[in-house]
Formats: sequence, structure tokens, C-alpha cells
Amino acid sequence: MNNNKTIEIYEIGPRDGFQSVRDYIPMQTKLAVIERIIEAGVKRIQVTSFVSPKAIPQMRDAKDLAQICIEKYPKIEFSALVPNMFGAIIAAETGMKKISYVVSLSESHNRANIRRSHEESFEELQKIMGELPQMDICLDLATAFGCPFEGKKLPDEVVAFLRPYVDLGIKTVNLCDTIGVANPAQVRDTIALISETYPDLTLQIHIHDTRNMGMVNTLAAIECGIKATQSTLGGLGGCPFAPGASGNLATEDLVHMLSEMGYDTGIDEHKLIEAARFESTVIDGIYSGHMYKIDSMNKN
Ligand code: COA
Ligand code: ZN
Repeated sequence: MNNNKTIEIYEIGPRDGFQSVRDYIPMQTKLAVIERIIEAGVKRIQVTSFVSPKAIPQMRDAKDLAQICIEKYPKIEFSALVPNMFGAIIAAETGMKKISYVVSLSESHNRANIRRSHEESFEELQKIMGELPQMDICLDLATAFGCPFEGKKLPDEVVAFLRPYVDLGIKTVNLCDTIGVANPAQVRDTIALISETYPDLTLQIHIHDTRNMGMVNTLAAIECGIKATQSTLGGLGGCPFAPGASGNLATEDLVHMLSEMGYDTGIDEHKLIEAARFESTVIDGIYSGHMYKIDSMNKN
């Protein structure tokens, strides 16, 4: 049970949310949304990804956007997702101190997403850690609970997969339910086994809301002791070409639940709801959030 009632909220909408939007979002619009997220009190933002613009054209402004944000908001912790050395070096060039290195537990998903085998991804991380020893690297473990090609993933497989990464020196792992197939029992079992095997590892949770399980799975993780969660403003995400695909749990919904339960996130819930409302008017995407749709006269 997590007795310390402080939860670190990582807002990842500018990466996981924006990447799902088909039409390019002008950088000024991205910045306007980010500004409102910061005004609401969010301190940690995954602001972009340094990936191939051919793979994700929406992120083609990554370097400029990251640089502007780092300069403008020195107190905010900005991070980015990277799949390779190329991306890690650009992140370092912007002055970024933290990156999420993505690898999928499922090798077929790893190949589909970043065109690398497990071995290649591991070797690339070794090189990044050698080249950029100061960089704070979180391992983003995609498909940690299930994969569209390989099906359900069990805790044993997660633990075995992590062994070489832990031996390499990875200290933080973000468990990603990429396609929203996890259930709370599975989340608990996975976290329990990882924590038992690697007691010094810090875990984060990242749940897609595809089957309306974002909240219960994130809460299950928190109640197992996880202190850092990822979510997207408005629940923005999904894919305009894949019916039923969905984004992450909505940050403002999570913050609402946590504050009702007496957790401290340091975030002004009402400002965050306003930020989500603003975002939904300026970015045409798929939103799964609830709170921002409630009439402001009807808050209680
Ligand atoms: N940032 C920007 N450009 C990059 C890059 C990066 N991190 N990595 C590679 N590139 C460029 C290369 O310079 C090359 O450009 P060119 O064609 O103009 O020469 C091109 O992308 C292909 O490079 P290559 O190393 O052959 O990569 P690839 O075609 O094998 O693709 C990835 C591998 C990882 C770069 C690509 O699959 C990718 O970016 N995937 C990210 C997917 C993603 O973001 N998924 C959602 C988040 S989990
Ligand atoms: Zn995701």
C-alpha cells in the first residue's frame, strides 16, 4: 500500500496525444496548450519525441519545440521519447536531461514500431548510456501487458526481459499498456513480481484507456506503491484510422480522482480542466476525458 500520498503526474499529451493527430498541429498551438498545462501546476511534461519524421510527421518540430520549452520554463522537467542514438543525441543537444527510451516487450511490436530486434534495441541503449552518461534514462516498456501481435503478456516475461536492463544500470521503468488490455489483477501481479525481484527499481505506469480501464489500472498501480503516473490532457490519443483505438487516461480525470481521495499532485484541478477544454477547441483529435465535458456550473 502506498502510504505517502504524493503522486508525480507526468503529462505526456504533447507526445502520445499529439502524435495521434493526423494534421500537423502548428507549433504555436502546441505551445499554447503546454503553457496552460504548466499554469495548472504540472511539473513534468513529455513534450515530444525525437523520432523519424517519416515515421511520425507530427513530431517534425521536435527539436525547436523542445528548445523553446526548455528555455522558457526552466523549472519544468521536460523529457522526450527516443527510439535510438540519433534521437538521444538531439535530446542532449536541446539541453534535455531526461529521456524515455522505448522498447517493446513484444519483439514483433518492437519491429513494427521501431524496426529493431530486441537485441538491436538493447545494444543501442548500451551505446546511448556510454555516449551520454549524464542523461537520466527511463525505460519505456511498451506492450508490457499485451501486444496486438503476440497477445497477453505475463509478469514472468516482464521480469525476465528486464534482467539485462537492470544489470545495465536502468533505474526507472515505465510499464506501458500500449493497447489498453491490462486489468487491475494483472497490474498488481506484474508490479509485485517486479518489485520483489528488483527492489531498487522505480516504476511508473502508462495506461491507454481503450477499454475504459485507464483509471482502475492506474489506481491499482498506485495502491501497489507506484508514485509516478503518465496520462494525457483530455485523454487525447488514439488513431483516426483505427476505430476504437484510444489515448491514455485523461490527466484531469486522474487528478480529480486523486484529489477526491486525498492524494497530493500539486495540480490545480480546475485549471487543468480548463486546459483540456481549451485543447479540445484548438486541436481536432479523439478525446476520452470526462471531466472537461462536464458543464462548469455542474462541478459538484
Ligand atoms: N530522429 C529524427 N530522424 C531520425 C531518427 C530520429 N531519432 N532516427 C532516424 N532518423 C532518420 C534518419 O536520419 C533517416 O533519414 P533519411 O531517410 O533522411 O536518411 C531516416 O530517419 C531512417 O533512418 P533509419 O535509421 O534507417 O531508421 P528506420 O527507417 O530503421 O526507422 C526509427 C527506425 C526508430 C527511426 C523509426 O522507426 C521511428 O522513428 N519510429 C518511431 C515510432 C514512434 O514514435 N512510435 C510511437 C511511439 S512509441
Ligand atoms: Zn502510449
